[in-house]
Amino acid sequence: MFSMYDVIAKKRDGRVLSDAEIRAVIDGYTAGRIPDYQVSAWLMAIYLRGMNEAETASLTDAMLHSGDIVDLSAFGHLSADKHSTGGVGDKTTFIVAPLAAVLGCKTAKMSGRGLGHTGGTIDKLEAIPGYRVSLSEEEFRTQVRRIGVSVIGATGDIAPADKLLYALRDVTATVDSLPLIASSIMSKKLAAGTSSIVLDVTVGSGAFMKTTSDARALAQAMVDIGVRAGKNITAVLTDMDQPLGRTIGNALELEEVISFLQGDDNGLDDLREVSLTLAAHMAANVHGITPDEAYRQAYDAWKSGAAYEKFMEWITAQGGDPAWITDAAARQTAPVSETVCCAVDGYLAYADAEMIGLAAMQLGAGRQTKDDRIDMLAGIRMCRKVGEPVRRGEPLAVLYTSDPTRLSAAGERFLSALRISQEKPDAHPHILGVVCGSETAG
Ligand code: URA
Repeated sequence: MFSMYDVIAKKRDGRVLSDAEIRAVIDGYTAGRIPDYQVSAWLMAIYLRGMNEAETASLTDAMLHSGDIVDLSAFGHLSADKHSTGGVGDKTTFIVAPLAAVLGCKTAKMSGRGLGHTGGTIDKLEAIPGYRVSLSEEEFRTQVRRIGVSVIGATGDIAPADKLLYALRDVTATVDSLPLIASSIMSKKLAAGTSSIVLDVTVGSGAFMKTTSDARALAQAMVDIGVRAGKNITAVLTDMDQPLGRTIGNALELEEVISFLQGDDNGLDDLREVSLTLAAHMAANVHGITPDEAYRQAYDAWKSGAAYEKFMEWITAQGGDPAWITDAAARQTAPVSETVCCAVDGYLAYADAEMIGLAAMQLGAGRQTKDDRIDMLAGIRMCRKVGEPVRRGEPLAVLYTSDPTRLSAAGERFLSALRISQEKPDAHPHILGVVCGSETAG
């Protein structure tokens, strides 16, 4: 007979749990038969002892089957999703989704809200007046069929066990565990139903994974789960040591995306490189072409303006106001702004993404507690990226908020994230590796 006490003790002692035991925990917890305190102890045992590949696959599968699975079978091998493990200034979805659609992928994406210092795609989309983040499954499918792209908020019926477990991990210091992160992300991705998945596994100060080797291990674990589930899956390791692009904050990031899609990539090498690479891997997986060939196609789709046209089509199909996209003057700006200037000459040598994410959150761009309301206009526009020269008295960034009392502490935190040096720092690559799924993995 199943005993939660015995399952906790087994994992505490470093032994391997059976598929049946893992399923019994997830089913029992989701149904309310196992209390939080026992599942908390179990999570801590997993955190300390880890899980092997088979256990991680069982946990993923149990969470995946705790709720609905979206049926995208009508799109066959063309349905594609992209997921980022989280970052600061991470706006690639708004570029990758329309690009992939132009390249013939049926991009059907369910996204989440911000978590801690990391921003959320759904919060950002709500900066566009009228945009509907909730569509019925039928509306979602119809839009994907018609224009090739839709991005909506994940419903509560997708992997509800993960939702419960995540909330518990959040308050029991057990978020940061490779098997728990891998199974959490992959249960939702598999429930979202696409046949192809590209994972953007971020690395650095603004990411869950601070080192390339930890990120590679997480990427491999998620790719293994995807291969076992029969998915066409690739993980791309990308740099998140400094914020991506030059803006952090909901409306600010979308404005940056719009000018990028209109052809302006001035000083946005990281955003261009990461977005085109992710879109290329989506198209490569779906069409069976090489990533290099797909990259050339993605570059053309961006340069020709086709991706911008698709972005417009997507946003307006979901109710977004087209004037908000086409007319910069029609967009509201934050009532309060402050320019932060540099005190010395030199080069920007480091810009800690997590610290900058926290400063943006302090300005109102993210939630400090679950029930906080986001200030869509708040955030940070960085005038300098790492490696660029700075001069005394010149602007380093502009901070935006609707609440002037937030400026001083956020400004101090922002400045504490930066390091200026006399030497020009070595350039960082934006793409740190690729982990491909193969038929033999798993
Ligand atoms: N994102 C998730 O969805 N789950 C995790 O555990 C971590 C990041």
